[in-house]
Amino acid sequence: MKEKIINKPDMVKARNRHSGMPDIVYLEDSASAFLLEYAKDKKYFIRTYGCQANVRDEESMRGMLEGVGFSKVEKEAEADIIILNTCAVRENAEDKVYGEIGNLKGLKQKKKDLIIVLCGCIPEEPEILERILNVYPYVNLIFGTHEVYKLLNFIEYVAKHKERLVAVESKDGEVYEGLPVRRTSSHKAFVNIIYGCNKFCTYCIVPYTRGKERSRRFDDVLLECKELIDQGYKEITLLGQNVNAYGKDLDEGKDFADLLEAVAKLGIPRLRFTTSHPWDFTSKMIDIIAKCDNIMKFIHLPVQSGSDDILKKMGRRYTSKDYINLVNEMKKKISGLGLSTDIIVGFPNESDEDFQKTLDLVDEVKYDSAFTFIYSPRRGTPAAKMEDAIDKETKSRRFKELVKHLEVSVSASSESMVGKIYDVLVDGESKNDDQMLSGYTESNKLVHFKGDISLVGQIIKVKILESHTYSLIGEKVDE
Ligand code: SAH
Ligand code: SF4
Ligand code: F3S
Repeated sequence: MKEKIINKPDMVKARNRHSGMPDIVYLEDSASAFLLEYAKDKKYFIRTYGCQANVRDEESMRGMLEGVGFSKVEKEAEADIIILNTCAVRENAEDKVYGEIGNLKGLKQKKKDLIIVLCGCIPEEPEILERILNVYPYVNLIFGTHEVYKLLNFIEYVAKHKERLVAVESKDGEVYEGLPVRRTSSHKAFVNIIYGCNKFCTYCIVPYTRGKERSRRFDDVLLECKELIDQGYKEITLLGQNVNAYGKDLDEGKDFADLLEAVAKLGIPRLRFTTSHPWDFTSKMIDIIAKCDNIMKFIHLPVQSGSDDILKKMGRRYTSKDYINLVNEMKKKISGLGLSTDIIVGFPNESDEDFQKTLDLVDEVKYDSAFTFIYSPRRGTPAAKMEDAIDKETKSRRFKELVKHLEVSVSASSESMVGKIYDVLVDGESKNDDQMLSGYTESNKLVHFKGDISLVGQIIKVKILESHTYSLIGEKVDE
């Protein structure tokens, strides 16, 4: 296949952080006559890996594709365009994608005009991109996180020229407004408030794949939220790698606390936000969360480690004491607060003492839920160059031990809910049992209960009957 390379990623450029306000680009709807005709009988399949940033990008891509007439299918075999929207945060995320691309080879042989698209965070890593270009020559279109808005132009190019197109630019990035969107849920919505990350934790690839921290303008965020409320949405989650850094790069004089309060005042029944970084979390933000009834009392506050030595090597810029003080202030001011976290086990040369400090912190904070990961070296990050004397067995033993410690507080928090009545936003049928519905409480606990499918999208009262570590069983009660 012939190939057109517009650009390729570059880790040095990906590190650049130009100062000043982000460029904000207001896009206008435009569709070429060619695409409108081409899309008529064509179907697309999309699979998204990774975090909510990718989920929200998928919704923009769906908006663009369906806007010109492509229709969505749930099976790869029925599609004319297959899009893999990828994640590079850990090796296992990457491996899943290689498996999937490998599986598509047969389909491509049967259907010569099939367009296979690889986008998201994986192509942003130069060595991985080269590997993909060499090993999977049948992938037709590869672009990165900064090029999502060009999807339709790219598809038109590939369809017309039958060439492979590569467009992955490393840059600090712009803010694009006005992209169409087709949301996955009709009652819960993600709203980006800040893109990118400037934190450069030493283990993490995200600042390289997503560019610099750049906030959307205050009014643009409010406008999107207002539209969602008008459309009957029940829950909005404000999104960013570090929502607490919102507004620092703008000259609007607003911070994340101001934005939270303004969105809460629009009257959405449930307001959430993720992810928080302890570094930028202020008392003003805590006060707003405590004050507004419709801001859910749930904070995902990644700690990563309980050892100050490891935190320093990770570049997290807080000590375990800073973190505990912050958590204590949150717990004191916000009643009924649910807390969750991310923890990495096996950072290079983490000692038994370091690990013990993580266990101690976990026991002290008593999280309501948590995500745990074994450290995975990411090419091009500083931690990947650190020598590591800790063997795999030690890491996996520590991982299991950490999970056991976490389960104590997670189970206790679920158990304390038994017998009580909670508001639950009904999401749909339970994943494992289509006789049951499921939804989340305000503190983000998953509840399964019997009920009619017409309840989906409503906030109902559920009495908790049984607790399992990671979910609850309840029954609907009348108001
Ligand atoms: N911006 C968010 C999320 C980043 S990715 C934050 O700062 O919390 C989600 C989680 O993946 C991180 O919190 C971290 O715990 C984990 N993670 C990131 N890079 C990793 C790596 N190289 N190995 C293992 N876990 C990693
Ligand atoms: Fe990665 Fe750290 Fe940024 Fe989170 S704050 S995205 S862990 S660099
Ligand atoms: Fe993965 Fe990219 Fe998100 S690496 S975690 S999809 S920002």
